[in-house]
Formats: sequence, structure tokens, C-alpha cells
Amino acid sequence: AIERTLSIIKPDATNRNLTGKINAKFEEAGLRIVAQKRIHLTKAQAGKFYEVHAERPFYDELCEFMASAPVVVQVLEGESAIAKNREVMGATNPADAAAGTVRAEFAQSVGENSVHGSDAPETAAQEIAYFFAGLELVG
Ligand code: CMP
Repeated sequence: AIERTLSIIKPDATNRNLTGKINAKFEEAGLRIVAQKRIHLTKAQAGKFYEVHAERPFYDELCEFMASAPVVVQVLEGESAIAKNREVMGATNPADAAAGTVRAEFAQSVGENSVHGSDAPETAAQEIAYFFAGLELVG
């Protein structure tokens, strides 16, 4: 089915001007960028986004990092977009990411791993709604 997923190009990647190279990988995989904006999150906004990880030992560091520089939040659309985006991103830890994936090529560590992608249809819907109004999604 055609799905939509929420993607974030993280501060380590925007700092290194990798937005275009990462977008090229999404588009080459058949994912259409139907909404996109560059924003600088506050730590509180990052904290709310990553609320499910609030009890994890890396939560504070994760929120600091996500608020350290601009991010690009985007909605990707396509056939099985959620799984396809996860394939293009590669494993969370770049040491485990398959060759050619975004994280294998660009990520610096498990924390500074260049991209986020929704993990399931329910979280995709929630995460898209966190950043975008319906009128901003242009398919
Ligand atoms: P993401 O897909 O954005 O979802 C949660 C994030 O937590 C994950 O990517 C990683 O960047 C981050 N994360 C996961 N494990 C660790 C860790 N051990 N140390 C720091 N950050 C982590």
C-alpha cells in the first residue's frame, strides 16, 4: 500500500551539508518528499517527540543533540514507505548498517546517526501530525 512516513535529517547531517545527498537516496529509492521544512527544535520539543524513550539512559543526550542545530523534518510517501525508508536508512548503529545505506555512509555514532524514520503506521501518523498540518502535505 502507499504509505507516508516521518523522516528527520538530524543535526550531525545538517551540520555537514548532507541534506541533498540524503534526499537523493530517498528519491532514488522511489520515496517522494511530499512535505519538508528546516526547523531548530528546542530541547523540550525534542523531548516530547522522543517521549517513548524518556526512561532510557541516553534520553537527555538525545534531546540535547536534537536541539543542538537545525533539523530537516519531512514526510516521505510511496509503496511501503515505512519499511522502505528503514531500508534506505540502515541499522540504528552505523557499525551494523548495510553498505550503501544512509547510516553506513554518513552516520557518526549510534546517537549521531544522521536520520530518524517512523517505525510503524501508528507512529508515522503521530509523528507526521507532530510536525505538519494536513495542508502542508502535497502529494
Ligand atoms: P532514532 O531512530 O531517532 O530513535 C531513537 C534514537 O535514540 C535513535 O535513533 C538513536 O539516535 C538514539 N539512540 C539509540 N541508542 C542510543 C545510545 N545507546 N546512545 C545514544 N543514542 C542512542
